[in-house]
Amino acid sequence: MRRLKPLFDNNREWASKKKQQNPHYFQNLAKGQNPKYLWIGCSDSRVPANEIIGLEPGELLVHRNVANLFPHTDLNCLSVLEFGVRMLKVEHVIVCGHYGCSGVQSAMEDHHLGLIDNWLRSIRDTHAQSKQELATCPDAKAKHNRLVELNVLQQVYNVCHTTIVQEAWAEGHSVCIHGWVYDMESGELHDLKSCISSPEQLEEVYRIQVPPS
Ligand code: CO
Repeated sequence: MRRLKPLFDNNREWASKKKQQNPHYFQNLAKGQNPKYLWIGCSDSRVPANEIIGLEPGELLVHRNVANLFPHTDLNCLSVLEFGVRMLKVEHVIVCGHYGCSGVQSAMEDHHLGLIDNWLRSIRDTHAQSKQELATCPDAKAKHNRLVELNVLQQVYNVCHTTIVQEAWAEGHSVCIHGWVYDMESGELHDLKSCISSPEQLEEVYRIQVPPS
């Protein structure tokens, strides 16, 4: 079996550099993790979560999927959220989309791709709900960019609507959910200023009365 030698070479070089800087680096990391942040981002290879916000291993819990979606019934998403919020007590959950997202672009077109069309379906809902606003965008790129933002905002709400986040708030654990977009053309992040940290910021129909434990 081919072992992809260049990648193993890179790994050895990286590990030895880390050990040179701090001989106990890996022993310390192996003891456990205590990240303050959970990142929910797109799988796109051009958006490496840790790197673009300058965080080291151990500082960021990461979940990535195509088009940074957080469907409220997805076990994978719910599991990482529960692990982050309930077990690791992260203080911030960041949903980060990016302009030039091919997942969002595919959901704006009528091409048949197959299975992934089902995964991306909820972006079409967001598109349909905001059709009037999107129609005012001056061109196709602006429309795409705005749908990227609206998709992020929808996922921020999806995270907040979970029992996991609402239970955490009810128990007095302060956790804030943020919506950001990464601009690949400049390397810069944009904050959509949608920080949600209490049930009062949610539509009443999504609020859950969590009984005292
Ligand atoms: Co993407």
